[in-house]
Amino acid sequence: MKHNTDYILQKAISSHNLHEEEILYLLKAKDTKKLTSFADMVRKKYVGNEVHLRALIEFSNYCKQNCLYCGLQRTNVKLERYRIKEQDIVNLAKQAKDFGYKTVVLQSGEDDYYNVNKMTYIISEIKKLDIAITLSIGEKTFDEYKAYKEAGADRYLLRIETTDEVLYNKLDPDMSLKNRMICLGNIKKLGFEVGSGIMVGLPGQTFESIAKDIVYLKSIPVDMAGIGPFIYNPDTFLQFKSIHQYDNFDLSLKVMAILRLIMPDINIPATTAMETLNHNGRLIALQSGANVVMPNATEAIYRKKYEIYPGKICLNDSPGHCRACIENKINSIGRFVSKSKGFHNPYVTI
Ligand code: 5AD
Ligand code: FES
Repeated sequence: MKHNTDYILQKAISSHNLHEEEILYLLKAKDTKKLTSFADMVRKKYVGNEVHLRALIEFSNYCKQNCLYCGLQRTNVKLERYRIKEQDIVNLAKQAKDFGYKTVVLQSGEDDYYNVNKMTYIISEIKKLDIAITLSIGEKTFDEYKAYKEAGADRYLLRIETTDEVLYNKLDPDMSLKNRMICLGNIKKLGFEVGSGIMVGLPGQTFESIAKDIVYLKSIPVDMAGIGPFIYNPDTFLQFKSIHQYDNFDLSLKVMAILRLIMPDINIPATTAMETLNHNGRLIALQSGANVVMPNATEAIYRKKYEIYPGKICLNDSPGHCRACIENKINSIGRFVSKSKGFHNPYVTI
């Protein structure tokens, strides 16, 4: 195998296939710019200049899990908990539609208060608005996922976080990598568009394990891959910092770019965590392979409490402000906001 950046990038753009060792080589290579500019080229060819917006509604910060890195972990007593009422969630979705969003993402901690009855009510009410619905509410049973699909949910986001089993067991006590993979399999089987992804720069994570994560995401294969840098949260039990947060930003860009090269037509969001580490983070991500942004559509009173990690952006902003802000930013780099629901359209060559 030839290990040389130019050779690997040429191979990637002609075949959209890379071996795990080639992915590893790109992750470790010094030159991020060359990789991201190839990804930007591939993005333009396969998914164009349009950017899909997804309105993020963070409807509950209760969580029964205890992931060491996450501020919503159940043992974080510093966090003031909230739940948005069912009808108010529907109203937020209505407002999002009025702002021109074509998709809402309903996200929460793993909160059993929202049982199947409540969730199917919320989903079916929002469905009447003729917008796409993405759920990001964690691990559920096959039957629960099925009920949500039948009620009208279109997509499901469940990040694998890491495929390194030792690391997974350390960071996600009481959970198992195997069950998470089963959940993703069920989501796929039920016909949801599958969104998954990882955190980059977790303490104890290696380049080798990230290369395996990328291979795993392609093997599903995902319709959407969300990549976010790990950001240390002092209110969590993960009492050690990753090496350099700036590196997490750079490495996240590389992971996103590689995903674009090997899955050229999928949706890749420029994540909020990228903007936390760099004030232009989302635009840089959009120029490194990403084609989606998920602006916050939750009211400001709740935003501060959805503190997965510190320094989250837009904490004092209203849904309307974020909608206008992001469109201006997107236009400033010669891209435009899509008018479609932004489903994953496999690219067909004629
Ligand atoms: N830093 C960055 N991202 C985090 N997430 C959880 N905790 C952190 C953190 N400390 C991510 C996880 C989860 C998503 C909603 O937020 O990947 O899936
Ligand atoms: Fe919220 Fe810019 S996206 S202020």
